[in-house]
Amino acid sequence: MTTSKTTRTLERVIESIPTSDGAGVKLRRSLGHTQRLRLDPFLMLDEFSSEDANDYIAGFPAHPHRGFETVTYMLDGHLRHEDHLGHRGELKSGAVQWMSAGRGIIHSEMPQQEQGRMRGFQLWVNLPAAEKMKPPAYRDIQPPEIPVVALPGGGRVKVIAGTLMNDGRSMAGPVGGLATDPLYLDVELPAGGRFVHPVASDYNAFVYPYEGGVGIGPAGAARALKAHHAGVLSAGDRIDVTAGPEGARFLVLAGRPLREPVAQYGPFVMNTREEIDQAIRDYQSGAFTRPSD
Ligand code: CO
Repeated sequence: MTTSKTTRTLERVIESIPTSDGAGVKLRRSLGHTQRLRLDPFLMLDEFSSEDANDYIAGFPAHPHRGFETVTYMLDGHLRHEDHLGHRGELKSGAVQWMSAGRGIIHSEMPQQEQGRMRGFQLWVNLPAAEKMKPPAYRDIQPPEIPVVALPGGGRVKVIAGTLMNDGRSMAGPVGGLATDPLYLDVELPAGGRFVHPVASDYNAFVYPYEGGVGIGPAGAARALKAHHAGVLSAGDRIDVTAGPEGARFLVLAGRPLREPVAQYGPFVMNTREEIDQAIRDYQSGAFTRPSD
């Protein structure tokens, strides 16, 4: 038995592809651009960033989801979320909405600004079979609820989900207790800054730089990862990320894989084709909007 740590290396790079979704919102999709480009339990990662209202003003009018979670993290701007159950949430700069669609939600996400920058991310996290038909649930997380931890070598980490281990201390974020046990960190490093963090060895993990490039892997053997690319990491029990000469901002995502079959049709993510057919029937018959008995 050995106690030495294995540093994860950069195993695969998924470039984000410009696309549009909703009523024509321009975004970049890395994970989930095709259905083979998933990393269990993560299904999709979209980055949206524009100063031009034409790129976002049409928003995401009413649309359904079933069987997974959508996580919206706003860096800049203001979206209003409303669903068919009467839940309304204001997503402003720095806020996170963690929505568990469960058996079904119909919602809209619409910009509340006609100019200025709109920037953020939407991540899709799968639910285990046993939770796909649970009632929908939300966590609306405002910026003060998200711990911001200074790193000893400069830079800082926002802890959105899971627990940050830093300098011998731990800091839990506002989201925990999920079957996939996600770690969701937003890290900012100065030029040449380094971020080393433990990740359970059987969890899948990736890094997504959105400002500046990074090096990933053990010192001296790091591989470069450019901005707007998802870097899928090898097995191992810690990550090691170094910022390039311009500094960097990046997301760190890790989670416990579900290892269940995935059947997806657009915004429905189930385990079998029959369950997808049922989801389509339920949506078309209005069952999503009827109160459950
Ligand atoms: Co949605």
